[in-house]
Formats: sequence, C-alpha cells, structure tokens
Amino acid sequence: MKYVIGVDIGTSATKSVLFDETGKVISSSSQEYPLYQEKNGYAEQDPRDWYNASVTTIKQVIEQSGVSNKDIAGIGLSGQMHGLVMLDENNEVIRKSIIWCDQRTGKECEEITQRVGAQRLIEITANPALTGFTASKILWVRNNEPENYKKCRHILLPKDYVRFMLTGEYATEVSDASGMQLLDVPGRCWSDEVLEKLDIDRDLLPQVYESCEVTGAVTAGAAALTGLMEGTLVVGGAGDNAAAAVGTGIVEDKKAFTTIGTSGVVFAHTSDIVIDPKGRVHTFCCAVPGCWHIMGVTQGAGLSLKWFRDNFCSDEKNTAELMGVSEYYLMDKEAATVPVGSDRLLYLPYLMGERTPHLDPDARGVFFGLSAMHTKKHMLRAVMEGVAFSLRDCKEICSEMGIDISDMMACGGGGTSPLWRQMLADLYKCPVKTVACNEGPALGVAILAMVGAGIYSTVQEACSKLIATDKTQLPSDDEAYEYDKYYTLYRKLYPALKDSYRELAKL
Ligand code: XUL
Repeated sequence: MKYVIGVDIGTSATKSVLFDETGKVISSSSQEYPLYQEKNGYAEQDPRDWYNASVTTIKQVIEQSGVSNKDIAGIGLSGQMHGLVMLDENNEVIRKSIIWCDQRTGKECEEITQRVGAQRLIEITANPALTGFTASKILWVRNNEPENYKKCRHILLPKDYVRFMLTGEYATEVSDASGMQLLDVPGRCWSDEVLEKLDIDRDLLPQVYESCEVTGAVTAGAAALTGLMEGTLVVGGAGDNAAAAVGTGIVEDKKAFTTIGTSGVVFAHTSDIVIDPKGRVHTFCCAVPGCWHIMGVTQGAGLSLKWFRDNFCSDEKNTAELMGVSEYYLMDKEAATVPVGSDRLLYLPYLMGERTPHLDPDARGVFFGLSAMHTKKHMLRAVMEGVAFSLRDCKEICSEMGIDISDMMACGGGGTSPLWRQMLADLYKCPVKTVACNEGPALGVAILAMVGAGIYSTVQEACSKLIATDKTQLPSDDEAYEYDKYYTLYRKLYPALKDSYRELAKL
C-alpha cells in the first residue's frame, strides 16, 4: 500500500493529513497561528509560522500513523491564495506576508488598471484589479516600503514558500498563480505584457507547473525536520478552492461546490474558459490540466460567524466545553429555533469588504431591521442567512454566465452545519450534498500527489475511484418562497448604502 500527505496551509491553521491510496484518512494533525491586523483593513501573517506548522504537523502525522516514510509516495500542498511572500538574496523572509483578505491596496488597483487598461487586464488575467490579489500587494510594497522592495529577489505564494523550504525549488502551479493577477489565465503562463506594464521583473517569479506535475523533492534538511524520506516527491498542489474541488470530485462540467470557510465560495468547473466581462466572479485555471473554474467569493462567511462567536457567545463556549461538543453545534441549534428571515432581521456580511458581486473594499457589515424584540439568537440566524444570501449572489452570476449547475456539494467548516446547508438548498433551489470524507483541500492535493506519483493516471480517474457522496439535502418549496422575499430585499441594501460606505471609509 502506498500513502500520500496533503498539507493545507489555511488562514487560521495548517492541517496535514496522511491518506492511503484508497483515500482513507490514516492520521491528521493541525496547528494554529496568529493573524496580525495592525489597522482596520490590514491582514498579515508570518510565513515562518506556516512552515513551522507544516513541519510539526507532517512529523506528527507520520509518527501517529506508524507508516514507514519509504511508503509515502508524495506530498501535495494547498492553502490560502494570493498572499505575498518576499525573500531576499539569502532566501530570508523580508516582511510579514500581506494576505488575501487585506484591503489596503485600493490605490494600487487603480494604478494597475491605469497601466494595463481595464479591458486588457480582464482579457489576460481574467479578473479586474482586486485588492485581494498579489499584484496590488507587490505594488503597495514598492510604493510604501521601497527599501523592502529593493531587497526582494523572489516572490512566492503562501504554499509555495512552504514548498521552497521543503524542496529548495521556486515553483508554483496554475491554479494559485491565477490569483496573482500576473498570469495569462487563458494561456496558463506568466504574462510578459502585464509584467512589463507593471514593471515587475519576471525573474522574481517562480516557475509555473500544472497542479499534478512534480515540482521537486524533499531535501535532506527538510527530511531531518519532518521525518519524510529525502527525495519524497512534492507535486504542484493547488490553491485552497481548486484543491477542494478535487477533494469533492468537482472535476467535470455542471458540477459545483460551495465552501463556507473563513471566506465563502461558489466554485463551478468549466472545460471552456468563460470570463465575466464585469469581473464580478474570478476565472482561474483549475487543477485539472487544460480546464478552468469560475468562482464567486464572499469575503466574510465563516469569518462572520466566528466574529459573532468570539464577541457574543462566551456562554455557548462554556456550555460546549462542559458538554464536550463544538460551540458551533450549540449555535446551530439556537439559530434553528428562529424562523426563516430571523423575524425581519437582515445581515450584510461585509466585515472585510466584499468581492462578489460588489468588488468593494470599503463595504462593511450591517444588521438591518433590528428591533427591541430581537435577541442574540435572531442575530445569530441573521448572520448565517446573510452569508447564504451572499452565496446566492455568487450562484446567480454563474447562471448569468451560462454555467448550468445541477450538482452542488457543500464543504468547509460551515458545510458541516445542517442548518446552513438547508439554507443553501432553499436559496439555490437545488439539492446540496456532502462528501463522505470532508478533508476537502488536503484530500484534493493528496489526490494530485497520487497522480504525480503515478498511482492514478488522471485527476478524473482518481476522483471517480476515491470520492463518495454522503448526505443530500433537498430544497423545500415553502422555505424557498420565504427566503426569496428576504433575498429580494437583501439585494436592495448594498446599492442603498454604497455611497455611505465611501463616506465612512473617509472618516
Ligand atoms: C480565493 C480566496 C480565499 C483564500 C483564503 O480567491 O481569496 O479562498 O484563498 O481561503
């Protein structure tokens, strides 16, 4: 029997999972690290925390499993996209990474649009200039910290920094590179035109691979730290969502998934490239060679619920600890006691600005309709509903682009909530399914490692053998009817507030 390890370098933690070649979880381990938010709208992490967490968790999964490292055929890396890691000539990290949800780069986005041209930018990178993407973060460092920019010799994404530390190779792969805004997304290679117009030296960038290609092998130094064999293969891997797609079997047309992690995503596979001319959803290369995906992203999905938990749910936390269950389980039960529409309370989940459909870094969260009769439970349910409304916005745009979705999987932490899944089924008006193994991104990149190591010949073949579905929730006509009324009102709120957000940002 052969084994592989999937490492998922997330925003709150890194999780490593060791699978056997049938996709069965043998052992898993995760380690958390801090997120630094020095100012409103800033978000940074220390890349060394990602590497240390990767080393610790890889070592733990090998030790816990009792599997000989000789039988580990490969490793796949996944993780948060877009973060900017800059290394100097000695390969030392120059500054903390400015990560995906950081919103400081409004001015740099204007600069990018002006240098490349709005239409040309969408034609080449398949996206308008976005604060979350790496290019604007590179320009921000150049404009605001020229001494750091001068020292920079290598630019890497979060998981690719971990790859560099494990293998000594400067490499990335098409799915994650698509989120840098420097890739020619239809052509699956760096865009000389964009690099030239932005005056970014191509030598700073890593080599681009397809996601299941081998990018290097574990060095003796990294082997000694992790317990892996020197020479273990490391495949390209994928950005967290492209990886989750493989881990949930979304590798064919008409298939899609919704993730509720820190951010929320509606992801649809497509074998023909389609680009939203208004740039409201992303088009990225996917982990299946020669295919793409479109993806709507709402910034504050699980983040909204976590914010609510951390600020208002200390009672639930204490009770959950005594009962030995997760506080989210209790919060779910409480929210389920409130009717659809939270007794006329709506929530806009824009705690970290918004991407789909508004592309507005200045947008912020709102409770609308708060009355003296509302309780914490109403606010809790309204938060979950607001996130589900925002995900419906994402699905609406996919339909507008002619992407027909008949199969929706739910994953991520929020996907484990039956209440949230039912809200999605009612709002999407289609069945929402779960997969038997909910290791999404880690399983996805483990599958890519199996393909890279030759255990399976294609990603589709591996998925058809390894992914099994579990529960299905069907939409209810009555609830769908009720939700539609609230969704219609929800859609009117952002346009009414748009100018006020601008004013708020200037205060
Ligand atoms: C995708 C995105 C998030 C991050 C963090 O564009 O920004 O999914 O990768 O999870």
